[in-house]
Amino acid sequence: MRPPVFDLLEQDMERDAALPFVDLASRYFLRTRDGAEPVSTALSSAEIAPRFDEPLPQNGRPLNEVASRIEHDVMTAMNQLAHPMCMGHQVSAPLPAAVWMEAVIAAMNQSVAVAEMSPSATVLETQLVRWLTGLIGWGAEAGGTLTSGGTEATFTALLAARAAVLPNAWQVGLGAEVGALPVVLCGEHAHYAVTRAVAELGLGLDRAIAIPSRDWRMDVEALAIRLNALAADGVPVMAVVATAGSTATGSFDELEAIGALCESRGIWFHVDAAHGASALLSDVHRDRMRGVARARSVAWDAHKMMLLPLSAGMLLVRDEGDLDRAFAQRAPYLFHGDEDGRVWDQGTRSFQCSRRADALKVWVAFQRYGVSGLGAIYDHLCDIARDLHAAISVHSQFVALHEPESNILCFRWVGSATEDDAAVDDFNRDLRERYNRSGRGWITTTVLGGRRVLRVTVMNPRTTRAHVIALLDGLCEEAAEMRREGNPDPSGSHMSASDVGRASTR
Ligand SMILES: Cc1ncc(COP(=O)(O)O)c(C=O)c1O
Repeated sequence: MRPPVFDLLEQDMERDAALPFVDLASRYFLRTRDGAEPVSTALSSAEIAPRFDEPLPQNGRPLNEVASRIEHDVMTAMNQLAHPMCMGHQVSAPLPAAVWMEAVIAAMNQSVAVAEMSPSATVLETQLVRWLTGLIGWGAEAGGTLTSGGTEATFTALLAARAAVLPNAWQVGLGAEVGALPVVLCGEHAHYAVTRAVAELGLGLDRAIAIPSRDWRMDVEALAIRLNALAADGVPVMAVVATAGSTATGSFDELEAIGALCESRGIWFHVDAAHGASALLSDVHRDRMRGVARARSVAWDAHKMMLLPLSAGMLLVRDEGDLDRAFAQRAPYLFHGDEDGRVWDQGTRSFQCSRRADALKVWVAFQRYGVSGLGAIYDHLCDIARDLHAAISVHSQFVALHEPESNILCFRWVGSATEDDAAVDDFNRDLRERYNRSGRGWITTTVLGGRRVLRVTVMNPRTTRAHVIALLDGLCEEAAEMRREGNPDPSGSHMSASDVGRASTR
């Protein structure tokens, strides 16, 4: 007798089976709309763990019971990214049309790396890449691949740069290379994806050179001086990596100037624009990316400021041949060479073998919202960060560390600024913990210039000026509570952010 599971599979393919899951996602979107619920959970991992501490299920149960378990055990202890007070990491409140597409992508299960396994999706990915390389300003030779994210994109870019400088390394390894191994230069605030790739590629972490910044951007003068010194010492340079939309402050390096420096010296120029490349969709912010066409490779995460659900990263290259050379891959059981003079198999250009058709959800986002819609969303996210900056600039208890160049702002609770810096560092750390645990909002923290700061990233179109004012109010109230409980606080000020907001210029 056929085991019952085969009938269950057929039942589960029907529309009614899907509805509890669609319903879960849709109800989550709707119930977070007005921001009345807590943003996150106060439970620790250890407190959540007993919910799932059970034997491996030997037999199945009805699908609606499984959905209801997700609702009760998972969704009651999650970070609600769709909540307008969620302003934490660079992960989006995802575009709904792209969310719905996820189920279709999974149902089709096309592996885009191999053209014969994914006839339309591979072609569609190629078209998507063509659109985006066009926005960068590159020509017909350009190409690229979707990646799991910015980390894989930058790793792949530096692999391609290695193939350009050490073309034999793929075959013979680095040990057999004669002469000094090359170095990679990046800004001191570059994402760890850069230094990690340098180590992963066998160059050794010591060959990643950090260039100091000025105003949170790579100091181009310092870069030029370092390049001159390296040339004088006969040290080869594999790549210079600029950041467009830095992780800590959302700042944009001067791509035009850095690109010109690299061009004049024949150095591979990679732009880690995982965060900021979506500025190319905005009439207002596009100029931040000026000079990007000088790059040989660009990392662009659609799952950051384009608000796609995880994951949707991209590596774009000015010359598609660079990616082919990077991997120099042969696998006759998968890749069948060219057709009409071109290689459609994307796997020859990608770190991954089986690869999801994430391009489809990015394509759906463009179809549904268009460049104009996605650009308007980008503008809104940046506007709200500016609103927060404006409110802080007239607030007695906070100082901003920089003007926002995108949707990220770092600021610091300072009270009356009479306390020593180390005590204020601790206070900010505890304040953020406490505020997040309260459920009223969710923000992050980092260390900038040696000082602990609070960090906000606006990744949700629902977040408005009123929400960032509420954030400051919430932080002030939690700080006052901490003071009452005996934490160090030098502040005598009791002005609320709402008062400040009314007095502010925006
Ligand atoms: C500038 C920058 N580059 C790269 C990354 C890594 O991207 P992913 O997490 O998609 O791998 C990040 C992530 O925050 C980033 O901000």
